Amino acid sequence: MKTIFQLFVALPLLWTASHVMGQTTTPWQVPAAKKTVKNPVAASAAVVEKGKSLYNTHCKSCHGDPGKNNGLPLQPKPTDPASAQYQAQTDGEMFYKMMTGRGAMPKFADVISETDKWSIIHYVRTFGKKKSSADAIEVEADTLAMPASTLLQAGVPIQLNLHIRERDTMLIATLTTVGASGEPVPAAGVEVAFFVKRYFGDLPLGEGVQRTDVNGWAAVELPVNLPGDTAGMLTLIAKAIINDGIDNVSDTLQAAFGKPLVMRNITEERSLWGRARVAPLYIIITFFGALLIVWGTMGYVVMNVLKINRQEA
Ligand code: HEC
Repeated sequence: MKTIFQLFVALPLLWTASHVMGQTTTPWQVPAAKKTVKNPVAASAAVVEKGKSLYNTHCKSCHGDPGKNNGLPLQPKPTDPASAQYQAQTDGEMFYKMMTGRGAMPKFADVISETDKWSIIHYVRTFGKKKSSADAIEVEADTLAMPASTLLQAGVPIQLNLHIRERDTMLIATLTTVGASGEPVPAAGVEVAFFVKRYFGDLPLGEGVQRTDVNGWAAVELPVNLPGDTAGMLTLIAKAIINDGIDNVSDTLQAAFGKPLVMRNITEERSLWGRARVAPLYIIITFFGALLIVWGTMGYVVMNVLKINRQEA
């Protein structure tokens, strides 16, 4: 009896141990043809931004914040995307691993579209030492030739142009300024905040302020299902914050990307004579049924009272 019990405990333990060890010892093989696949999606600020939000939704729970090595303690460990080990993979390898999954790593073949998977790779590459095509996106304020505030003091105007990319509802602000010989040049490193106009004030979009990249771009994803007006129109605003908010430049855009607001006349619907809402049949039947029974009973009583013969004195 005791040996059977021991066997029950020991066998699953042994199985788990061998399983775990077996996994750690086998490197994840990617077919040679898949390794060399190039990222077909062109990098841009918007793509990286999209990749970031997808990473945060689908990957962060296990792989942690890139650069913080705070992934889940699984076996084998989900590697930090900023780590050398992770960055040593080719784009094709990352894509293949997302497609197929292994062990605790889920298979994302049908969960995330191909374009979105490549966007995640663009985002993850922004953490690599070896700069990839996405490095144009990463702009530190101090690497800029001229900060926006200096430009403004020199009397150089900044122009903000807001537009929406319909394909993925990215709201993109393009900032330009004037170069030395009067030609328009991108205004990089300028803080831009996005808003959507509401009844009471402006609702900020995205997380905090964005900084324009070397192309003078800043982007934020427009959330789906934002309530618009009756035609689904939204009033979108981008504001470039210049000179600590003193000389802001902004642009406004009307776009039919909201959920149309359905106006309802509550008094019409709920009045006694209103025809917009008809009571459910069961209520009508119960109501008239009860009415019939009550009045029927009263009528029956009255009838019977009338039948009583008067007793002659
Ligand atoms: C449920 C937890 C989990 C989630 C969610 C997850 N992963 Fe993983 N990931 C793992 C584990 C565990 C491994 C190690 C698998 C192995 O080697 O067998 C791994 C491995 C990887 C690898 C190979 C890394 C290497 O160093 O070999 C890549 C690439 C990867 N994941 C990308 C992603 C991406 C991109 C996402 C989001 C779309 C994601 N993972 C979501 C758990 C997860």
